[in-house]
Amino acid sequence: MAPPAASLPRLFLLAHVVAVAVAASGDTTTAAGQFRVNCGASVWAADSEGRVWDGDDASRFAPFVSGVAAGAPREDPSLPSAVPYMTARVFDSSYTYSFLVRPGRVFLRLYFYPAAYAGRGAGDALFGVAAGGVTLLRGFNASQAALALEVAYLVREFSLYVSAGSLDVTFAPSSSGHGHAYLVPAINAVGGRGPCLKAPPHVLWARGSARPPRALLPDAALQTMYRLNVGGTPVSPGDDSDLLYRSWDDDAPYIFGAAFGVSYVKDSNVGIQYSASVPPYVAPASVYASARSMGPAAQFNLNYNLTWLLPVDAGFRYLLRLHFCEIRYPIRRLNQRSFYVYVNNQTAQEGMDVIALSGGIGRPVYADYVVAVTAGQTDLWVALHPDVNTLPQYYDAFLNGLEVFKLQTYDRLAAPSPQVPDPEAGGSSNAAQARSKRNVAAWAAAAGGLVAVLVG
Ligand SMILES: *[C@@H]1O[C@H](CO)[C@@H](O)[C@H](O)[C@H]1NC(C)=O
Ligand SMILES: *[C@@H]1O[C@H](CO)[C@@H](O)[C@H](O)[C@H]1NC(C)=O
Ligand SMILES: *[C@@H]1O[C@H](CO)[C@@H](O)[C@H](O)[C@H]1NC(C)=O
Repeated sequence: MAPPAASLPRLFLLAHVVAVAVAASGDTTTAAGQFRVNCGASVWAADSEGRVWDGDDASRFAPFVSGVAAGAPREDPSLPSAVPYMTARVFDSSYTYSFLVRPGRVFLRLYFYPAAYAGRGAGDALFGVAAGGVTLLRGFNASQAALALEVAYLVREFSLYVSAGSLDVTFAPSSSGHGHAYLVPAINAVGGRGPCLKAPPHVLWARGSARPPRALLPDAALQTMYRLNVGGTPVSPGDDSDLLYRSWDDDAPYIFGAAFGVSYVKDSNVGIQYSASVPPYVAPASVYASARSMGPAAQFNLNYNLTWLLPVDAGFRYLLRLHFCEIRYPIRRLNQRSFYVYVNNQTAQEGMDVIALSGGIGRPVYADYVVAVTAGQTDLWVALHPDVNTLPQYYDAFLNGLEVFKLQTYDRLAAPSPQVPDPEAGGSSNAAQARSKRNVAAWAAAAGGLVAVLVG
C-alpha cells in the first residue's frame, strides 16, 4: 500500500547505479556472480575496467521500477568512468531493489554522483537507505557529503548478513527534507564471502566507559571506513583477490606527525604463502608483499610511535583488522622483532611477534580488534612501538595492511553527514583540510570498486 503522498516529502531518488555483485565461488559465468545495476540506464554498458552493468529498466532486480531515468548534465573529469555514474533514476516515493543472493555475507556498494538530474538541484536530495533491517544512510545529502570531502562522487561500501535468500535495498525520502529529496545511488553487492572472524576479536575498553563493548556478532552489519595497503601502492578493484573488487588505498595520507617510517617490498626470493586460516581472499598478495616499518635506527624508534590517524564517526564501535607478513631476511625466527600495537592510546597488543603468530617468513596473518569510539571523538588512533621487554634483536615495528569497519549500533550504521568547512569562518583549518583530504583519499579510492571481506 502506497503511503499517502502528503505524508512524505517528495523523494527524488537518483539511482546512478545499482549494482549487486555476488561473488559466490564456483560461478565463473557472470564475473563471479556479481550483479551490477546501472540505475537510469535502459541497456547494459561496460565501465572503464570492462565490468558490465545492467540497466534497471526492465531489470529482474527492479520489477515495475518507477521514477524517471535521467542523465547527469556534465561528466566530472575525476569520475573513473561514465558508467555507472552518468545516469540515475529519480523517484518520487520509496523504492526497493531486490537481489537474489545466497544467505551469508554480502558486500553492498552504493555509488553517488551528485548532479542536477531531471532538472532537480543536486543539493535537493535528502534520503535514507536501508537493507536487511539496518539503516545504512539516514538524511543523506550526497551533495553535502561530496562537498565536505572535496570529491565529485562517493562510494559507500557495506558488509551485510543476509539470512533469507534476498537482499532488499530500499531508498526512501527523509522526513526532514525541504519538501523533496533526491538521491543518486549505485549498488554493488558481493556475497558468499564475509569478513571472516576466525577468532573473536580482541575487545578494547572504550576510554572512560564502564564496560567493554560487546564482541562482534556474526550477523552484524559493517561499513568499510578504510582499507589501506600500508607501505604499498593502491590496489584497484580489478586487482583484488577472489573477484571481491575491493580498493586498497595508500596509507601515507593518514600518517600522523613527521615520522613516516620506511616502506619496503618483499625480498624477491620470498613467496606469499596463504594457508587454510589465511586464504587469498583475506587480502591480495600485493598487500602482504609491501609494508611500512619504523626504520633501521633503534634509538630513533624508541623515541616515537609510528601512528595513523583515521577520522571516524563518534558513537560507534569499529573493527580494526591489522595485516602482517614478514617478507625480508634476516627476519625469520622468533623474537627478532617484537612490538606494541596501540589503539586509541590503549595497549591492544604487547609482544607482537609476527613470526610467532604466522609460523614463518612469507606467511600472512591478521589480528582483529574492536574498539568503541565515544561521543566527541573524531579520530581513531593506531600506533606501533617496539616492545623491548623480551630483548628482541631489532627494535622495530611494522604493518602491511589496515582495514577499519564501522559496526552497526542497534539497527543503524548511519551517521550525520560531515559538515562542509566554511573558509570564510576559518572553518577550513589545517586539521579540517587534512581530514577532508584523508577522507577524499579513502573514499575516492573506494569508488573504483568494491567492498570488503570480513571474516570467516
Ligand atoms: C544538501 O547540501 C547542500 C550543500 O551543503 C545544501 O546546499 C542543500 O541545502 C542540502 N540539501 C538539503 C535538502 O538539506
Ligand atoms: C591519544 O593521545 C594523543 C596525545 O596525547 C591525544 O592528542 C589524543 O587525543 C589521544 N587519542 C585518544 C583517542 O584518546
Ligand atoms: C606511544 O603511544 C602510547 C599509547 O598512546 C603512549 O603511552 C606512549 O607514550 C607513546 N610513545 C611515544 C614514544 O610517543
